[in-house]
Amino acid sequence: MFTSMGDSMNYIDRAIHVATQERDEYTAQHDLNVGYLAEALGHAMQLPENELVPLREAGFVHDVGKIGIPDDILLKPHRLDAGEWEIIKTHSLRGERIVAAQSSVCWGRARPAGDIVKAVRHHHEHYDGSGYPDGLRGDEIPLWARILLIADCYDALTEPRAYRLATSHEDTMAIMKVEAGAFSDPRLFEIFARMIETSPLKAGATKTYQ
Ligand SMILES: [Fe+2]
Repeated sequence: MFTSMGDSMNYIDRAIHVATQERDEYTAQHDLNVGYLAEALGHAMQLPENELVPLREAGFVHDVGKIGIPDDILLKPHRLDAGEWEIIKTHSLRGERIVAAQSSVCWGRARPAGDIVKAVRHHHEHYDGSGYPDGLRGDEIPLWARILLIADCYDALTEPRAYRLATSHEDTMAIMKVEAGAFSDPRLFEIFARMIETSPLKAGATKTYQ
């Protein structure tokens, strides 16, 4: 989706991004895409302006925990089996540890720093409580984590993987609509669905970010 991080990252984020890139180019690109999508959804939700940058940063680092996943699982060119999925699922806790370790240096602004750490930990919690790591449900899930989940899902489906083609925007939205309420916060999905149709971030649209 995007080819450059431009000037939209602070220096610690850049270090995390480059480290992720060294480990797995796909994950690094996905982190960028999710950051921009999360920011756009936050904007459409009319979140306060000063929350949009830390929300975007949460997206930029949300999958950094994947750098701790062994190569034969992280880079496997086929679908993962159940045991391998259990290992992949540890990435949210690994990411939380990495981000928490650096947040006091980089994100001295107390609330956003804590929100970024929580968003990374909980970005795979499902609205119906079937997600991980804590099985939180509904509004128990931190708001930024609910935003990241939608951005994450949209980008993951619309980007190709080694073992499958990209899903079209239309098919992705149809899948996400069916799963809203169980998988994602239905109120946020509705806002996302309206926002993405006219957004430069829509899959297949010409991107204008640097
Ligand atoms: Fe993730």
